[in-house]
Amino acid sequence: MPIADSQKSIGNWQSAIRMNRGLNRYAILVACATFFLIIAGALVTSNDAGLATPDWPLSNGQFFPKMVGNLFWEHGHRMVATTVGMLTIVLTVWILMKEGRSWVRKLGVFALLAVIAQGLLGGLTVKLMLPLAVSTAHATLAQLFFCTTVSLAVFTSRSWMEARPLPEVQGTLPLRYLCTAALVTIFLQLIIGATLRHSATWDQHLPTQLILAHIGGALAVTIALGSASITMLRRYKDEKFLTRPAVVALSLLAVQLCLGVAAYMTRLASPSDPQPLNPMIAITVAHVACGALVFVTTIVLTLRTYRVLNGAFVGAAHRGRPSSTTGGVTQHGRPRSAPPTGGT
Ligand code: HEM
Ligand code: HEM
Repeated sequence: MPIADSQKSIGNWQSAIRMNRGLNRYAILVACATFFLIIAGALVTSNDAGLATPDWPLSNGQFFPKMVGNLFWEHGHRMVATTVGMLTIVLTVWILMKEGRSWVRKLGVFALLAVIAQGLLGGLTVKLMLPLAVSTAHATLAQLFFCTTVSLAVFTSRSWMEARPLPEVQGTLPLRYLCTAALVTIFLQLIIGATLRHSATWDQHLPTQLILAHIGGALAVTIALGSASITMLRRYKDEKFLTRPAVVALSLLAVQLCLGVAAYMTRLASPSDPQPLNPMIAITVAHVACGALVFVTTIVLTLRTYRVLNGAFVGAAHRGRPSSTTGGVTQHGRPRSAPPTGGT
């Protein structure tokens, strides 16, 4: 298909940016594959299959061993990771060839470097027999890599390019700061969660201090994400671009808190089980996966906030048409005259 057909010029206030629908759909595919990979990785840990083979990069000296016992989870995870690695190479090349915005190109290169580093960390954790620091770093970089692929999907999306500036309510804490605070808190919580999870295998009790730190983290996340999302819903209730990720993030947080309590209860009982049992495996894997979803939804929310509630927009929007009745927001929640911007 000719480039002119596959690319669509978006909006008249920002015609410099062109949307490449194929690239956007492919970025979404890579993000979904990464989510699947996080689940596959969590299954390795929950099944205690990390050392099903002490070998790397081959598995028991073979490129494709028989997928028996825990090797199914461990080697299966490597296969999924290899697929995601190859998908990422194509994504980066595609971005470098077609993307005009230099910062998106840089992010594409970062995604490739991150997946390579992640693969090396995976190999290292096997070779060193799953030391806490390396396994925790592997779990954390997985979340950062997922965050990168989701961000690439956001930056190449139609809604990002069509988004128009919104004036912020004057005299209040800018929402982008609230969202950033929530994002940082969640990331710290993911690191504490990963440290907790890798501190004890299913047949050992989890360390009390780390559990308490993780519960404190859950409280901090609830306050930070709760206040950012609720403020967003109150101030911009007609702006689906902002309210949709806020509602999804809040709902996922509620599910995550329930899964956390359930994970704690199954892990409390697991040391007396004969082997990792399915309820414990399912709940802990779901807790890891839902944690990743809370994180990336908050990233979408934060990025969108920076996109439309950017300080530069506020001044320009106010020059366009200030409103006294709604604290700077016009009746439709949009400034009447959208200012032209650079290639963001
Ligand atoms: C390339 C992208 C990769 C991603 C995104 C990824 C992601 C993950 C995730 C999310 C976990 C679960 C962490 C947890 O449940 O706490 C995990 C576990 C694991 N991964 Fe990967 N992984 C990748 C590549 C690899 C590779 C190439 C290997 C090679 C050996 C590997 C080996 C392992 C092992 C052994 C575990 C279990 C660690 C433990 O139980 O302590 N990973 N991975
Ligand atoms: C804001 C809410 C929460 C988030 C975002 C969160 C996130 C996470 C993540 C991402 C992990 C695994 C990290 C990894 O290995 O990659 C984890 C582990 C864990 N979390 Fe949470 N968590 C939350 C709340 C809770 C709550 C309220 C509890 C209840 C006590 C809890 C209990 C646990 C337990 C027991 C583990 C270890 C599971 C295992 O050993 O397999 N979490 N958490």
